[in-house]
Amino acid sequence: MDFQSVKPAVGVGRKIYIETYGCQMNVVDSETVMAIMAVDGFGRADDLRSADVVLLNTCSIREGAEQRIWNRLDELAALKRRRPGMVLGLIGCMAERLAERIVAERPAVDIVAGPDAYRSLPVLVGEAVAGGRGVNVELSKEETYAEISPVRLDTAGVSAFVAIMRGCNNFCSYCVVPYTRGRERSREPETILREVRELFDAGYREVTLLGQNVNSYSFGEVDFPELLRCVAEISPLLRVRFATSHPKDISDRLLETMAAASNICRAIHLPAQSGSSSVLERMNRRYTREWYLDRIAAIRRAMPDAAISTDIIAGFCGETPEEHAETLSLMREVGYEFAFMFKYSEREGTLAARTMADDVPDGVKTARLEEIIALQNELSLESNRRDVGREFEILVEGTSKRSDDKVFGRTSQNKVVVISRGDHRPGDYVRVRVTDCSSATLQGVEI
Ligand code: SAH
Ligand code: SF4
Ligand code: F3S
Repeated sequence: MDFQSVKPAVGVGRKIYIETYGCQMNVVDSETVMAIMAVDGFGRADDLRSADVVLLNTCSIREGAEQRIWNRLDELAALKRRRPGMVLGLIGCMAERLAERIVAERPAVDIVAGPDAYRSLPVLVGEAVAGGRGVNVELSKEETYAEISPVRLDTAGVSAFVAIMRGCNNFCSYCVVPYTRGRERSREPETILREVRELFDAGYREVTLLGQNVNSYSFGEVDFPELLRCVAEISPLLRVRFATSHPKDISDRLLETMAAASNICRAIHLPAQSGSSSVLERMNRRYTREWYLDRIAAIRRAMPDAAISTDIIAGFCGETPEEHAETLSLMREVGYEFAFMFKYSEREGTLAARTMADDVPDGVKTARLEEIIALQNELSLESNRRDVGREFEILVEGTSKRSDDKVFGRTSQNKVVVISRGDHRPGDYVRVRVTDCSSATLQGVEI
């Protein structure tokens, strides 16, 4: 080997800091980026102040998400003026969607990299350090970062996200994700199982398998129920969760697989988006209210103790007062434990933006969203009240935000329970009885 030709890795002596926005997939992506950068010698900065390279991992899902990032970018550009030599990068969905505009309008940005371009980040940083700009927003049909073990940024060491697939082929008419993340592709099962085994051996006690549409996972002979079964078999002491499920793909076989393994958590996030079949058709969700309710009934039959949560969009194109009322009635009928609720935000380039008018006035959207939130608060409180007096096993995650004398953990249903600290440590399983509740949390005692 000719040692003289070996260049020092660009990362040696440089520290990197990543600020993450958006969904859980972005959290794993930031951890994957850390792993890629570590190979090139980059260290991890504990805060922005000590960082040589600052990356914003961005989200485009709604206008508001992007606006926050534009504002943050301006703050960081100001910081960069005081710290010449700092490398500033934008990665993730907004980088993918708006690369040209970012390059044209934000000279302070040195790097722009889309979700499938992270392996090239060390090279892009090298280009930036040399005084240029590094841009790569190419989407891939194959990239799953399969063999990379993400560097976990959450230090509690109890629960980790594991990406099992990337991209989305569903093209819901309102959604930007198929454009920012490209086509759906599944990760090789052996690499997933290896990563989960490593996490368990390192003390982790919970994994959440992630994909935009996890239940359409498919690699060779292995489909999602089969993968889930294999992951759950790694240890009965490992809890397994997954997100997000699409209602059209939630099969009886998946429900049977869950019911047969007590360490697969009794919590299903099944975004409905709307309770009206006509709105669902305009959204291109490919199911009806009746289909959705049939799937809810199937979940209840297979696992009577399962918690069901959802995402709801208020004020989609053409939504009438009657259609909105159907969303409220669906929410009551299902009795969701929890929901993420949003006002419809038009996204350039999507089918809805191209072919439908964003015609529900903002004030009406806000009023409908408030009704939806108020109803969900009622439903969450009712659900929590039903748990008072019941017993659960919780996995302790950390110290309660409100009090140092208390710790919190989650039930299999993904509800937070706060108990006295005792000698409990993160990663312990504790049997508790619920004694009291609010709409957000349960209070309990060890039994
Ligand atoms: N793949 C997941 C979630 C994707 S994004 C799924 O299909 O369920 C998370 C949530 O953001 C969506 O479920 C939807 O409720 C919301 N969302 C997506 N695009 C939106 C838009 N243009 N306006 C408002 N909410 C949106
Ligand atoms: Fe977006 Fe629909 Fe894909 Fe979810 S399933 S990411 S809402 S296109
Ligand atoms: Fe946002 Fe991209 Fe996730 S748009 S919600 S970060 S997939």
